[in-house]
Amino acid sequence: MISEKMAAAINDQIKAEFDSAYIYLGMAAYFQDCNLPGMAHWMEKQYHEELEHAERFIEHLYERGARVKIGEIAKPKESYDGPLSVFKESLRHERYVTERIDKLMDQAIEEKDHATSSMLKWFVDEQVEEEANVEAIVRKLEFVGDSHASIYLLDKELGGR
Ligand SMILES: [Fe+2]
Ligand SMILES: [Fe+2]
Repeated sequence: MISEKMAAAINDQIKAEFDSAYIYLGMAAYFQDCNLPGMAHWMEKQYHEELEHAERFIEHLYERGARVKIGEIAKPKESYDGPLSVFKESLRHERYVTERIDKLMDQAIEEKDHATSSMLKWFVDEQVEEEANVEAIVRKLEFVGDSHASIYLLDKELGGR
């Protein structure tokens, strides 16, 4: 049996994953509007991944016999100041999510909830990858600066995700 406290924290995280999905959906829409279809595609993939994250948490609560509570999804930002600002925002957001996952893990360990720890282990690894992927794109964007030709090429590259 999962504790009420742990279940509540996971329900909060389900909402946070939907918030993340919405943020990325908003970023995809922004890139579509900027005529950067590759970056929009990259963000759409990210959007779907976040939905899968929410589903993993939902499944865990079902399996543990806890009630899933669906919260409200926050409205994401609508406009950004170019590709670099979008990916920097994404990196900030992923770091915030990592902190959240770490806190969930701390709680699972404290409660000796091994099943939740084991489930969270996947997320700990996933966050390392998420941050690394976004950081690599931020570095590339910082490197190319305002060069339209390079942004065009990078857009093509990200479209291959
Ligand atoms: Fe996530
Ligand atoms: Fe993420």
